[in-house]
Amino acid sequence: MNSVTVRVPAKVNLQLAVGPLRDDGYHDLVNVFHAVSIFDEVTATAETGMRVRVEGDSAGQVPEDDDNLAIRAASALARHAGRSYGVSLLIRKSIPVAGGMAGGSADAAAALVACNELWGLGLPLADLLEIGADIGSDVPFALLGGTAVGTGRGERLTPLEVGGTFHWVFALAEGGLSTPAVYAECDRIREATGTEAAWPQTSEPLLDALRRGDAKALGAELANDLQPAAVMLRRSLARTLDAGREHGALGAIVSGSGPTCAFLADSETHAVELAAALRAEGVARDAVTAHGPVPGPAVGQRP
Ligand code: C5P
Repeated sequence: MNSVTVRVPAKVNLQLAVGPLRDDGYHDLVNVFHAVSIFDEVTATAETGMRVRVEGDSAGQVPEDDDNLAIRAASALARHAGRSYGVSLLIRKSIPVAGGMAGGSADAAAALVACNELWGLGLPLADLLEIGADIGSDVPFALLGGTAVGTGRGERLTPLEVGGTFHWVFALAEGGLSTPAVYAECDRIREATGTEAAWPQTSEPLLDALRRGDAKALGAELANDLQPAAVMLRRSLARTLDAGREHGALGAIVSGSGPTCAFLADSETHAVELAAALRAEGVARDAVTAHGPVPGPAVGQRP
C-alpha cells in the first residue's frame, strides 16, 4: 500500500464552558463536541522525508511547512514508533480555516490515522489519542467523532448518547480568528467586568435534549463562554447571529472560538431555507448546511 486517504469531519461545540485560566496557560473546560458533515480529506503517500500540500477553500491560509498540524502529527507518530518514516500529505480543505470548527485538529487526526495505516504500525486508538492530545486540545475528539464531552483542556473524552440527527447551518466568515487571542479576550473581559470564572459544569438539560434528539430543547441550551470574546473581536458576528434567529433558528451560537456561526434548524428543509436567507442578507461569506452527529475519521484508499 503506498497511499491512504482519510476523510475527517469538522466539529461544533454545543456547550463550551470555560473555567479559570490555569498556570499552564490553558483553561479547564466542559466542552460538548459534536462532529458535523463538513469534511477535509487527507491523503498520505509513501515518500522519503515529510511534505505537505494544501488544496481547496482558503488553502493559502494554511502553512505548508513544519507548523502544519498534520505534519506535526505525522512526525510525532514516527517519533512514537521510533523510526524515521517519511510521508507526503495532501490536504483537501472544506472545513473553514481558523473558523472555530477544529479544521487543523481534524487534519492532524486524519494524518495520525492515515500514517498509522500507511506505515503498518497498527497502533490502537488509545495511543493515537495520547499523541493527538500533545498536538492540540481538540485533536482527541477529532479522532473519535460523534458527540462527546471533553474535560480538562478538552482532551479527556466521554462519548455521549444522541437520539437523532440534527440539522445545522454554518455561516462562514471572511478570514479567521486566532484561538489564543479569543481565550485571551475572554480573560480580559472577565477581569474588566470583575467576573469570577466559575468551575465549568456539564449542562444536564443539554445532555437530556441530546439523548432525546430534541432539536428545540437543544437549541435553547446551546452555550458558548467564548462567544462574547469572539463578538468583541469581530463585531459583525452580532448581526449574523441576529439574522439567523430572525429566520427561525432554534439556536444561534458562535462555533468554538469563531468566527463561524452555527444555527440549529428544525429540519433539513428549514436548514436549506435558512442558509439561503443568510446568503441573501449578505451577513456571511457563505452559508452551508450540514448534519450531525457523524462518525470520526473514515479510511479509504486511492489508486
Ligand atoms: O490546544 P491548542 O493548541 O489547540 O490550543 C490553542 C490555544 O487555545 C492555547 O494556546 C490556549 O491559548 C487556548 N486554549 C485554552 N484552554 C483550552 C484549550 C485551548 O486556553 N482548554
